[in-house]
Amino acid sequence: MAEATGNQESKDYGIGIPAVNTVYKLKGSNNYDWGMKDRLSRVFSPKSGKTVMLAFDHGYIMGPTSGLERIDITILPLLEYADCLMCTRGVLRACVPPTYNKAISLRCSAGSTVLTELNDECVGVEIEDAIRLNASMMAVMVAIGSKFEALTVRNLCKMIETGNRYGIPTLGVTAVGKELTRDARYLGLATRVLAENGAQVIKTYYCEENFEQVTAGCPVPIVIAGGKKLPELDALKMAYMAVDQGALGVDMGRNIFQAEHPVAMIQAVKAVVHEGVNPEKAFKLYNELKAEKKTKK
Ligand code: R5P
Repeated sequence: MAEATGNQESKDYGIGIPAVNTVYKLKGSNNYDWGMKDRLSRVFSPKSGKTVMLAFDHGYIMGPTSGLERIDITILPLLEYADCLMCTRGVLRACVPPTYNKAISLRCSAGSTVLTELNDECVGVEIEDAIRLNASMMAVMVAIGSKFEALTVRNLCKMIETGNRYGIPTLGVTAVGKELTRDARYLGLATRVLAENGAQVIKTYYCEENFEQVTAGCPVPIVIAGGKKLPELDALKMAYMAVDQGALGVDMGRNIFQAEHPVAMIQAVKAVVHEGVNPEKAFKLYNELKAEKKTKK
């Protein structure tokens, strides 16, 4: 306990210097409370304002898909390069040591798998468990334009309500589905609906035409999913274009963990997202890191 006597007299009040009042720069986020901003700052680097989220939650709909058969072998070596880990609570508890100290975007909606009808989901993780797991964000899928639209919007709103109560942001995830078109008109509508309902961050897909309209029309940060595996240079081009057109990062899975050299790929993606390195240069970096890895073996 501080002593009551014998202390230095206070003298440096900086009289005349206005109190510092910092603006929180992340898009659309200045009016949130401290805890929510602190969590968002764990996801989005305060230095670059961007994020590389590593997505490996695919098992919740696909089972042990290629690259995710053994999380301990293939995913753990990637974690040090990611800003945020997008995963389920099952894999987090079973396979991810708590010593990495990375932001967690916890998959909180759950439901049907690829074997039945995708997107019939409920809120599968309650806020208490998200708090126990020290989640920085809670991810909920929303299927705008499908027959599960109202159901999944309700899931999103429920998560946002509880997230706001405890200062945990909600990541609204625009759905995948055969019947859902991935053009700027659809993505613009879906991302805006999720933001209007209060999602603090939106994950969606990149589209080649008018993607800048999608990001401009969405008042909160957008991160893009990678989608199906592409040749490495094409995936880097997609990440570059998306960020150049207003996305604040990636939430990428298969294009990292299914790459020929995932550790090299995540570092190349990081260079694109955080340093604005162009895709050709990033691909060169990928090949150099890949070659280094081979000689070390
Ligand atoms: C899908 O199950 C998840 O929402 C993934 O997190 C998302 O699709 C991103 O992964 P990918 O880059 O492989 O599309």
